[in-house]
Amino acid sequence: MNIILLGPPGAGKGTQATFLVEKYGMVQLSTGDILRAAVKAGTDVGKMADEIMKAGKLFPDELMAEILGEHMNAIPVAKGLIFDGYPRTAPQVALLDGLLSACNRTLDHVIELVVDEDALVDRVVGRFTCANCGDGYHDVFKQPLVAGICDKCGAHEFKRRPDDNEETVRTRMAEYRAKTEPILPLYDARGLVSRVDGMAPIEHVTEAIGAITG
Ligand code: AP5
Repeated sequence: MNIILLGPPGAGKGTQATFLVEKYGMVQLSTGDILRAAVKAGTDVGKMADEIMKAGKLFPDELMAEILGEHMNAIPVAKGLIFDGYPRTAPQVALLDGLLSACNRTLDHVIELVVDEDALVDRVVGRFTCANCGDGYHDVFKQPLVAGICDKCGAHEFKRRPDDNEETVRTRMAEYRAKTEPILPLYDARGLVSRVDGMAPIEHVTEAIGAITG
């Protein structure tokens, strides 16, 4: 099974991808995570991505597809893929078609997380992760059980994404509306899109996705 999770920043794509990985043993391909790893490694791609991500803009289509293709080729076809944050533009839809057919895969579901943008700003601006294991938290919605200590690994260091400030989040949302929302009709025409209420509690969203994926 190969799935696309679609939704604006903070819709819950990463959160739900984690559950799908646990439930089905699928592989999560987050293009945002891939670019952040390049930023951390200080590569030329990373330097370019750093500037673009801090501005809330989109990384170039062709280069993004090339990088994603390298990751896809390293994953056995027997493992299902969850595309988290890809595709984001009409050209990326066509590029993904090519990448999928090159490795004999087909797309099974495009799941749109339908959300209220204003509520999302609070979700994104308040989130932080454990610097050691990456476990996710939120200033209001999900604080560590003991303040300052990660529930999962006990580390004391946390980090926030540099693009999780209100100004950049608003730019990222505008990019989503202008460039990503218009790809939904392309997948609708193929009968692949299911819509889920992304404003429901996390476990309800997971159940709704489970009802689609079976
Ligand atoms: P990316 O890393 O993909 O960021 P994004 O799309 O902006 O999405 P987020 O990771 O912010 O949100 P999410 O939907 O995963 O939400 P999450 O589950 O974390 O991209 C970053 C940048 O990289 C882009 O701006 C661009 O520059 C570049 N890029 C990436 N892909 C690209 C591409 N294909 N082409 C070009 N450029 C690309 O949840 C958020 C918070 O809400 C968490 O705290 C979570 O606990 C909480 N939460 C989740 N669900 C719920 C719920 N139902 N109720 C209450 N709280 C919830």
